Amino acid sequence: MVLNTPMNHPIPVDHLRGKDLTARLNLRDIPKVLLHEHLDGGLRPATVIELAAEQGYAGLPTTDPEALADWFHRGAQRGNLPEYLEGFQHTTGVMQTADALERVAFEFIEDMAEDGVAYAEVRFAPVFHTSGGLTQDEVVQAVVNGLRRGEKSFGVRWGLIICAMRHLKDSLEAAELAIRCRDLGVVGFDLAGGEDGFPPKKHVEAFQAIERANFYITIHAGEAYGPESIWQALQYCGAHRLGHATRLRDDIEILPDGTMKLGRLAQYILDRRVPLEMCLISNLHTGACASLEEHPFGMFFQRGFRVCLNTDDRLMSDTTMTKETTLATELFDLSLADLEKLTLNAMKSAFAPFDERIKLIYQTIKPGFAKAHASLM
Ligand code: HPA
Ligand code: ZN
Repeated sequence: MVLNTPMNHPIPVDHLRGKDLTARLNLRDIPKVLLHEHLDGGLRPATVIELAAEQGYAGLPTTDPEALADWFHRGAQRGNLPEYLEGFQHTTGVMQTADALERVAFEFIEDMAEDGVAYAEVRFAPVFHTSGGLTQDEVVQAVVNGLRRGEKSFGVRWGLIICAMRHLKDSLEAAELAIRCRDLGVVGFDLAGGEDGFPPKKHVEAFQAIERANFYITIHAGEAYGPESIWQALQYCGAHRLGHATRLRDDIEILPDGTMKLGRLAQYILDRRVPLEMCLISNLHTGACASLEEHPFGMFFQRGFRVCLNTDDRLMSDTTMTKETTLATELFDLSLADLEKLTLNAMKSAFAPFDERIKLIYQTIKPGFAKAHASLM
């Protein structure tokens, strides 16, 4: 099937790429899968303000939603991870009651539906939500209640990931919590927080507990530190997926003829099909990449790595899945077939059970892309 361009040159739909594609198709309307988003990084600004008033949290810099959004965005764009993470003290500060946690989780699902996301994994560190007197199990239960109510209202499927923090010593307790809460909808375990100075192998006991429970591991690695951190995440800690892995580019040499020479680590990640949860805008904000144009996502995708697109922190980085997908399409000249590939990469890599992944692929993702394809003819 061909399209007529304004100049009447027919372009096959499959050849429609980059800005030609985004001019014709609103990428909100294709099915998307999100594997890497922090619950405490994606609140609505107005919700932060309302929850602060309800809980008597006096730390916010302003109570005007637009000014607050702007404050978070400016705070996140200082070019390094430690400063990027400073804003989280306010979002976690207002998530200290069961009602607040339930609301934030419910709104997360509502936002996903609005953004055209069919399946989302969301993560957070329960340890930051106990200053109002909740136990960590109660914290998880409140979040699950909100996610379940959201799913009932909006039909978005979800999985919850429990984060341990790299700078804390209680990662084994966090792993045990994740395992205990598995039947509630917890699908995996992550290590988050400042990367430089906090190597993943310090938490190896926690990851061994997860492995012994036949459970799943993703680790933030290669965002604010180099390939050594990625290597430890994989080979000491048994990561099944990697958060960011941006600095894997340091293990790839571009030869004069433009081909890529992969180091042993990059080759292993390619061969083993290790999923890379890439986050473009957040990487720009934390300085993991100098510019979006130079982000290694394009070269990783081209070389066949199992990459997918993610938001990381929708509030802090002022982003959505539609925005990340549109940006990637325009920057790296992607086609609709490329976007389907990326979505399938994500769905295949999800921690949801195999049967659920297959169902989402055949009942939601493939029909959604077929519809988008047809709309362009
Ligand atoms: N890296 C580590 N920890 C985080 C991040 C991140 O990008 N976002 C929220 N917590
Ligand atoms: Zn993250």
